[in-house]
Amino acid sequence: MSRRLVISAPAKINLGLNVLGRRPDGYHDLETVMQQISLSDTLLIEPLTQANEWVFSCTDPDLEGNDNLVCRAASLLRSLTTKSLPGVKITLYKNIPTQAGLGGGSSDAAATLLGLNRFWQLSLKKDVLLQLAARLGSDVPFCLRGGTALARGRGEILQQLPPLPFFWVVLALAPASSISTAKAYGLIDPGSFGKPSVHELIEAINEGNKAKVIAWPAAGQTNTFEKVIMKHYSRLNNFRSVLQNLLLRPALSGSGPTFFILSEDYSRARSIAYAVEDNGGRAFLSWTEVKNKEWCHV
Ligand code: C5P
Repeated sequence: MSRRLVISAPAKINLGLNVLGRRPDGYHDLETVMQQISLSDTLLIEPLTQANEWVFSCTDPDLEGNDNLVCRAASLLRSLTTKSLPGVKITLYKNIPTQAGLGGGSSDAAATLLGLNRFWQLSLKKDVLLQLAARLGSDVPFCLRGGTALARGRGEILQQLPPLPFFWVVLALAPASSISTAKAYGLIDPGSFGKPSVHELIEAINEGNKAKVIAWPAAGQTNTFEKVIMKHYSRLNNFRSVLQNLLLRPALSGSGPTFFILSEDYSRARSIAYAVEDNGGRAFLSWTEVKNKEWCHV
């Protein structure tokens, strides 16, 4: 019988995101620099005695049900073979805020692909897993690869970049906010497509230039969504103003609503997190990860 597995599902931030334009298939072409961070969900995979069965539960009951990306990833893998597979109980311990632009659901899907590939002994190679990941969602391939990468196409074409130098990453969330990705894309005014270019950021990462990486958000807009989200979500705009009044340069991750602030210094990162909380937001103190996720037997 397969043994229990624990697998971590880390969040991502978009250090820079340029939506290039709408495509005939309804998606949008992008150029985005993605970075894996330490804030993670955890997936526990355990054997069930009944073959071919699976049960799924989550510490957030609102996320239970077959439309969860964990179940969709399990069903996609299950559909690849006609042979009998060991029964499995999957428990998702949720830490990453949902619909927050942090790729939590996508990372859960990626962790499920990796975990069940191992648990069911399917021996699928990474390139096959990456293709399956792209069928589950635009961010899932990056979540499978991890590290630092430039994502193109609708997000599934990945070019690995050198690991980002270590930074503390303070995540700042306005209270009770979530944004649907599809809705956020729909709100973009075509005049905003193609801005901001992420090429200077890529150059800084290729050079391993910490000062240039940290200065990049300070230079202005880092993400096409920023303008439109600030226009349509006034509470979020007010929250950003509060952070800016503290002399911070919050950058938006994905289509929001999470902002992030990079810091080289732990004491400063901790003070920023306290300041976010003192001003009514939720803060998570996290850091950049260089390694891909790993599973372990327990
Ligand atoms: O790929 P994923 O399922 O995460 O995308 C959710 C929605 O976000 C899509 O249905 C689409 O409306 C929008 N999207 C987009 N262009 C992308 C990625 C997502 O328009 N590159």
